[in-house]
Amino acid sequence: MARLRLGVVISGRGSNLQALLDAAADPTYPAEVALVVSNVARAAGLARAEAAGVPIRTIPHGDFVDRPGFEAAMDGELRNAGVDLVCLAGFLRVLTPWFVTRWHDRLINIHPSLLPAFPGLDTHAKALAAGVRWTGCTVHHVRCTVDSGPILIQAAVPILPDDTEASLATRVLTQEHRCYPLAVRWIAEGRTSIVGERVIVDGVEAANPLGLLNPAS
Ligand code: GRF
Repeated sequence: MARLRLGVVISGRGSNLQALLDAAADPTYPAEVALVVSNVARAAGLARAEAAGVPIRTIPHGDFVDRPGFEAAMDGELRNAGVDLVCLAGFLRVLTPWFVTRWHDRLINIHPSLLPAFPGLDTHAKALAAGVRWTGCTVHHVRCTVDSGPILIQAAVPILPDDTEASLATRVLTQEHRCYPLAVRWIAEGRTSIVGERVIVDGVEAANPLGLLNPAS
């Protein structure tokens, strides 16, 4: 069966891109990375795509007079590549409703907190400052409000007494790299639907097979 064609959109390091590339290296994985788009010319993630033999497009947002022009260029590249699902992976631009609507239910994001807690940037600093005992990551469908949308999967990690932003980020990232390929797998296998802005997986609302991923459980 044809594999789902992913367009992965990045701005930087690309470790989540790497997790998707690694998953897709298995021919039985139901999705492949068809294109990587970066709005940052020197994004380290671009080298990861090249190493995997995946086409890349650099679209510097500064080359465009406005956001719609930038997004139209990105949209064009994704469509030309026959992308089925756009995966935001450390993409540091806010998307306009035009782009979000154009890719409705075919646009997902990974965020390093348990949404709706701590949207936006500096999530680990926010979690430490708030004194929460648990944080984690979320893969979700993208809607017009930043870091919102139907949740596909979450994994939680504990916050430990001596944690720093860096140590917490490392613990969360380990879970991100497990969550993103799994969420994509579910979509590619046609196992998800969105009903009333909630994701149903295999007929179950709030499916959480990753409970076992919690180090403390
Ligand atoms: C990740 O923590 C992701 O959740 C957030 O940005 C970071 C990107 O890291 N959206 P990487 O570029 O995938 O390594």
